[in-house]
Order: sequence, then structure tokens, then C-alpha cells
Amino acid sequence: MTSSSLPRTGFYSDQPWPDDKGVHINAHGGGILFHDGVYYWFGEHKISGDEAEVGVHVYASSDLYNWKDEGIALAVSEDPQSEIAKGCIIERPKVIHNARTGKFVMWFHLERKGKGRKDGVSGVAVADAPTGPYVYQRAVRPDAGVWPLNVTEQQKAGLEEAQKLLGTAFWGSPHPDRAKMDFLGRDFHGGQMAKDMTLFVDDDGAAYHVFSSEENSALHISKLSDDYLSHSGQWVRIFEYLWHEAPALFKRDGRYWMLSSHCTGWNPNTARSAVADSIWGPWTELGNPCVGATPKQKLGPALTFGGQSTHVLPVQGRPGAFIAMLDVWRPEDHIKGGYIWLPVKFEKDRYTLEWRGCWDLTVFDRPTS
Ligand code: DGJ
Repeated sequence: MTSSSLPRTGFYSDQPWPDDKGVHINAHGGGILFHDGVYYWFGEHKISGDEAEVGVHVYASSDLYNWKDEGIALAVSEDPQSEIAKGCIIERPKVIHNARTGKFVMWFHLERKGKGRKDGVSGVAVADAPTGPYVYQRAVRPDAGVWPLNVTEQQKAGLEEAQKLLGTAFWGSPHPDRAKMDFLGRDFHGGQMAKDMTLFVDDDGAAYHVFSSEENSALHISKLSDDYLSHSGQWVRIFEYLWHEAPALFKRDGRYWMLSSHCTGWNPNTARSAVADSIWGPWTELGNPCVGATPKQKLGPALTFGGQSTHVLPVQGRPGAFIAMLDVWRPEDHIKGGYIWLPVKFEKDRYTLEWRGCWDLTVFDRPTS
């Protein structure tokens, strides 16, 4: 069993992952939708730089090891006036299916062209089929004019003062000067900043947009409307001034679990895990879930084995089995970015991710908790 042979029968951490044409999969910051017996992997189609020159790529698989290139699900626009003009930044696209409307809905972090990384908006696109084509709808700053469910009277009272921060731009990383700056109030009227993101659909069909906000200093969990195309106005902010990126959410045994990272740009950092009994919280941080050996000449569990979370995938037909999907960023040539997928192992009140260079789904034949 080698990493380049087809059909593949296992996962090979941070090795080239050829698609059905033998080309390394190009779906970074991705997520997976399972629909009608097929897994669809959506992700950023990278060239060499940060900017989106192509769009969102989609691949299909029935076994998770072998992926067929299904092409570009959402293409960037050649029209320079478009909000998704070639040269914008599109990151962490996720797709969910709305059972009520029958539509496939994609949300992604968007930085419109020419705005650097100060824009922090969310793009939404819709399709009639899982592989697309997705039709771009609009860019939004979520929850404009709506306080979170867990707002304090003090935060409301500070609104006028917070408006003085309008027009300021930061670089989305922890800094003592920024601790306690009121970005929530700054963005109250115009809508909240939305960067690294995921989507989560609960058992009752309600969908949630989870994103790094407030210059990355907090996470927001915002319920989407019934058609998943806008925000419902019900939302909470969590982990204030704790600077999380790369959130991924999953549910097991009625509890909500999170995998996320610290904020260090493209450089690997320590992964973070959290749990809550309600999606609205309170959320409890559980620390670094990564354990075990440091792979030879690679980065160890303190640096997420060189990866950063993007999605946690429920394995179909195996209740309680989940796979953590990590990106290995290669900013010097993004197209070479790799993927590490690891089984999630549940222990009593936490879960762990242990390094495996090569593994397959039979690990789930043994109980994971
Ligand atoms: C870390 C984020 O997780 C990535 O998605 C990307 O936005 C980089 N930062 C940019 O530096």
C-alpha cells in the first residue's frame, strides 16, 4: 500500500493525496458534505499565493480514500466589479444541504479584492446540485444591529465609546494593546467581522455559522435562518479575548465538541478542544487534544503535527466515529499544502488526536471510548 497507488486503502498523513487523475487534491481549508451516499470535499483551490485565482474546488468519494475531481463548484468572477472577482481571498468554504428548500448552501470567509485582510465578511452561494455550479448571492457582516444572547449591560452601555474604534484595523492576532478593546461594540451597527469559519447542522435541522470575529479575539456562534441563507439574529460570543481560529464543531452523545487553533497566521500552533452541553454554551476549554509521538523530522503534538484544524467529519454508518481534518499550510507555495486526517478518540470527558502516519477506517472497529 503506497500513498500514490489507486485505489487507495488508507489515509497517509501529509503525503501527496492524488485524485482520480493523479493530481494532488486542491481543497484547502475544506469541509465535507455527505449527501445520498457520497462524500463531497469542498476546499480552497490554491495556486501559489493567498488570493483566489480559481475558486472553490469539489471532489467526490464513496470511501473517503479515493476522490474524484468534480471541478470548480464556485468560480471566481472575471468581472473586476464582482465581490468575488479573481484576486479576492476565499477561505474555509463549507457546504450544507437544506432539507426544506432542497438547496445546497455554501458559506465562506471572503476578503473582497483590494481590501487586504481588513474586510472580514462572509460570502454565501447556492446550488441545486452538490457539485454546483454555486451561484454567488452576497457578502454579509453577520448580526448587524443585534446584540448577542449573552451581551452584558456594560457592553451595551459602552456602545458609543466603542464607535471610536471604527476605521481602526488590526492584524487578527493577540496583542496586549488589543486585550479588552471593544470590537463587539465597534461592529454593532455594521455587522460583526467574520473570518475563519465552519458550519454545523444540528439534529433538528437548525444550522449554525461559527466564526472567528472581533479581530479574531472571540468566536461567534450564530444561528442561520430556516433557508440557511442569512443569520437569524440569535447568536452568542464565546471565548472572549482568547483568540481562536480554525473552528470545527461536532456532536456526540448529545454534547457539542469543538476543535480549533490559536492565531499564528500560517504557522502551526497548539490545537484547542472544548465541550458544551448546549450549543449556546457555556463552553469549557479542554486543552490540547493532540497526543503521542512526534513524527520523524516533523512537528509534534504541541504544534498539531504541523497542521491546523478545518473540519471534523462524522463517518457514515459508524455512529460515534469522527475524523479530524487538518491542513498543513505551505504559504511559500500554497498548492503544495498537505492534509492530515486523524481519528478522534473519545476518553471520559475529553477527546484526543494521536499522530498516525498511515491508517484506515478499521480503527473504528475498536471502541473509541
Ligand atoms: C490562519 C487561518 O486559519 C487561515 O485560514 C488563514 O486565514 C491564515 N491565518 C492567514 O494568515
